[in-house]
Amino acid sequence: SPGADYQAENATIVGGVVEANHTGYTGTGFVNYDNAAGGYVEFTVNAAVAGNHALAVRYSNGTTTDRPLDVSVNGSVVAPAVSFPSTTTWDTWATRTVNAALTAGANTVRLTGSSAAGGPNLDKLGV
Ligand code: GCU
Ligand code: CA
Ligand code: CA
Repeated sequence: SPGADYQAENATIVGGVVEANHTGYTGTGFVNYDNAAGGYVEFTVNAAVAGNHALAVRYSNGTTTDRPLDVSVNGSVVAPAVSFPSTTTWDTWATRTVNAALTAGANTVRLTGSSAAGGPNLDKLGV
């Protein structure tokens, strides 16, 4: 199935702000994580069927340093410190896909910055 896109700017944001001051995002903007560990963006995503799903995270990282994110589903970390490497500029976006088990129906997917620099800029999550 084609799945659905969940815009970061519409998600629950703790330790980050919605901005639109770089080009190339989708929707109405992106989330700029605070440059500190522990900030997160939390999505409620729907899965038609239980089982493994691809979580497609669209992001930008204009630095030369990795901006890892912990991926948690329904309160449990399922993929710690997933790498979000440089995209060269803050106007350049890439998609990193993580596979995770979801239950049928509503699931909480939280992406938490795990390094002191905080997360990358986050555009959307595709499920
Ligand atoms: C710059 C950039 C922000 C980014 C930040 C960072 O300030 O404009 O969009 O979030 O760097 O290093 O995290
Ligand atoms: Ca930031
Ligand atoms: Ca967006």
